[in-house]
Amino acid sequence: MAGFSCVTFRGICHGLGSDYAPTELTSARSVVMNGVGKSYRFMRINPETEGVTCIQLFGNTPEDFTEAMKIICEDELLSRVDIFDINMGCPVQKVVKTGAGSGLLKTPKLAGEIVRQSREATEKLGKVLTVKTRIGFNDSSKNGPEFAKILAANGAQAICVHGRTAAQMYAGEADWEQIRLMRESVRDCGVYFFANGDVKDGPSARKILDVTGADGVMIGRAACGNPWLFSEVKDYLLCQNADKTIKNISFKEKCDMLLSELHGRIKEVGEKTAVCEMRGVMPHYVKGFPGASRMKVALCRASTEMEVRQILDDCLRLKEDGL
Ligand SMILES: Cc1cc2nc3c(=O)[nH]c(=O)nc-3n(C[C@H](O)[C@H](O)[C@H](O)COP(=O)(O)O)c2cc1C
Repeated sequence: MAGFSCVTFRGICHGLGSDYAPTELTSARSVVMNGVGKSYRFMRINPETEGVTCIQLFGNTPEDFTEAMKIICEDELLSRVDIFDINMGCPVQKVVKTGAGSGLLKTPKLAGEIVRQSREATEKLGKVLTVKTRIGFNDSSKNGPEFAKILAANGAQAICVHGRTAAQMYAGEADWEQIRLMRESVRDCGVYFFANGDVKDGPSARKILDVTGADGVMIGRAACGNPWLFSEVKDYLLCQNADKTIKNISFKEKCDMLLSELHGRIKEVGEKTAVCEMRGVMPHYVKGFPGASRMKVALCRASTEMEVRQILDDCLRLKEDGL
């Protein structure tokens, strides 16, 4: 997820049960034009902390994807990536208007050609090819089932579907029934199928799997500031005594995790950029706790690690004093 799934956070999530997480989306064109340098920090992986690694690319021409994949695999670290994921779900106007992201739902033939050529490339590079998409472009074009068939027929090895149309962005409820129809359409194609949208705990993960018949579940927003969710969900799915799997994470544990993510990010991109980028992330760690609104304002104004530490220490002290 753009703004959230940096290499540090993905490592934290893996340590807490996530099997794997893709990088945030990176422009294949930009890699072709500028090499890996400019996009390196978005594509950086750490096979030691992440387990399975996955770089997500977006674009609108098959050649950009195949060329970008080759360029990425010339880099010592990035060449260790396990999976290339093609984004066919991003609804942001800037991406869609170029025909990339969820714009590809409108051009299924091109989407198929992108997958076909990318699969040829990933075979040569020894990588796995997956696709992330949505149930359709808008209400009058829910072409998900045919689209999924095209992706599978052209060689996608796994498909992840977010149960909203591009027009919906993130509004309304995810339509798990449409995900089921897509799953059914590729049931005999030997492709792994992951369901995504509105999973926020063990019961919703169980339900999306039951409703859609998917092989696995992907979790987005609910994991922001809550990496413990992965072990909670995993325990719930595997454990008979499901109620015992719900964990109460204390404010102190949340603060410690926030600082550990910040610390990791500082090592990745330096203090100034890390604190700035964490402004969108920190509020997720403190939400739901008393005084969260005031804390969020203060955290969003912080510009150094020390300031963040100070704000959290003050809040912890007030909490201990019962104020
Ligand atoms: C801020 C934000 C950034 C996102 N960035 C990406 C991205 O880079 N690649 C991607 O495949 N999906 C991205 N998504 C979509 C999520 O992966 C997910 O499909 C969507 O939020 C629905 O799942 P959820 O209900 O579990 O959040 C993003 C979503 C949000 C809210």
